[in-house]
Amino acid sequence: MSKNKILTGFSKLSKDAKIDLIAGRFDNSGEVAGILRSFLHQDDKLQKLFDEISENTISNFYFPFGIAPNFLINGRMYLVPMVIEESSVVAAASNSAKYWATKGGFSAEVISTVKVGQVHFIWKGDLEKLKALFPMLKNDLIAKTKYITENMEKRGGGILDIELVDMTAEMEHYYQLKATFDTRDAMGANFINSCLEEFAVILKNHFSNVDYYTGEEKQCHVIMSILSNYTPECLVKTSVECSVRSLKDADDVNDPGHFVWKFEKAVRIAQIDPYRAATHNKGIFNGIDAVALATGNDFRAIEASGHAYAAHGGRYRSLTDVEVSGGKFRYSLTVPLALGTVGGLTSLHPLAGFSLKLLGNPSAKELMTIAASAGLANNFAAIRSLVTRGIQAGHMKMHLLNILNTLKVAENEKKLAMAHFANRKVSYVSVHKFIESLRQNHTDKSDKS
Ligand code: MEV
Repeated sequence: MSKNKILTGFSKLSKDAKIDLIAGRFDNSGEVAGILRSFLHQDDKLQKLFDEISENTISNFYFPFGIAPNFLINGRMYLVPMVIEESSVVAAASNSAKYWATKGGFSAEVISTVKVGQVHFIWKGDLEKLKALFPMLKNDLIAKTKYITENMEKRGGGILDIELVDMTAEMEHYYQLKATFDTRDAMGANFINSCLEEFAVILKNHFSNVDYYTGEEKQCHVIMSILSNYTPECLVKTSVECSVRSLKDADDVNDPGHFVWKFEKAVRIAQIDPYRAATHNKGIFNGIDAVALATGNDFRAIEASGHAYAAHGGRYRSLTDVEVSGGKFRYSLTVPLALGTVGGLTSLHPLAGFSLKLLGNPSAKELMTIAASAGLANNFAAIRSLVTRGIQAGHMKMHLLNILNTLKVAENEKKLAMAHFANRKVSYVSVHKFIESLRQNHTDKSDKS
């Protein structure tokens, strides 16, 4: 079968048939099918759960699940679950968390938890008429969505406000209904989108049913109704603080004054140069995404919001700030984090459920403080390494195992390589050469015996 031929009916095939069809595209189809099947869950019920989370599943894709202990946040100690594929992220978070736990830990505060959704519409009419009738329309929008908002209101959330936004300066006849929501402990995407789609229907009916509008004004083109992943008002701030002098006990820090001077410059560079800022912020999201994944949250939404927020001043910059004054070092991270601890994957994925239990079943606000602190911990560790011994020494040590596994070395070779590279520079080439030399020695010895 040509590989370019359009596949039809794939979704209707049984999982076995899907696996065989995909594996059949490889020369070693039996082996490929075996690998895919080996990652399926033994427990059929659990496998069904995973199959139903997504579509067209042919296997499961595992990521390592690690724990970063010793996160002292607002006086409470957490074991933080992290799901991530990059070696050294959990180690860096753990190292940083333990270090700051000896200095009072992280102080975190949730600034706000407001989420936004928009109905974007095109309307050719007299804005003054719409403005005059907007209070009536707003009442309607709130009253007619009660059947959706009732439960959320019982939990203390719901629609906070609805505004009419005139966007005609940007595009002809373009307006928005901009609604704000409190979704309590839920991430709330489905709740918000359901409200918005209902708003769109009510809005269209408003124009067509109210006699005050005439001619073209009776028509409204709803372009789309969707939540915004930009959540600058769902914001958390976390910080660590200590005397400059006391930083002498941080790994790789010989002269705390000079260290802080370099640290400040590094953060300043990430505030003025977007090339550096993107990498700096990526290091923050190493921690945040790992917690988001472990707790079943939508890390793409969180990333999108964080990076948009990093540009809210008109230039993309670091999400962290450093302050050094009166002999004190204070390092903080302010980041929007629309997280949930109920609903969605948080209650479906058994390991997400476990993560939340491990964290003591936190509210969404508490989880915001934990994820943000993980982000700051990872970033602190990265900057500390960058301005002292560099990032590669630690990274490549952690990466050594990945290289050895890629080279499919035996356990005894792995041990010898770990000992050999304990105090040597690690690179793919150096590890490869070392393994080859080991094997060569082995062959030479066998030839002689
Ligand atoms: C690597 O995943 C993250 C870092 O590049 C972050 C940074 O440079 O700040 C180390």
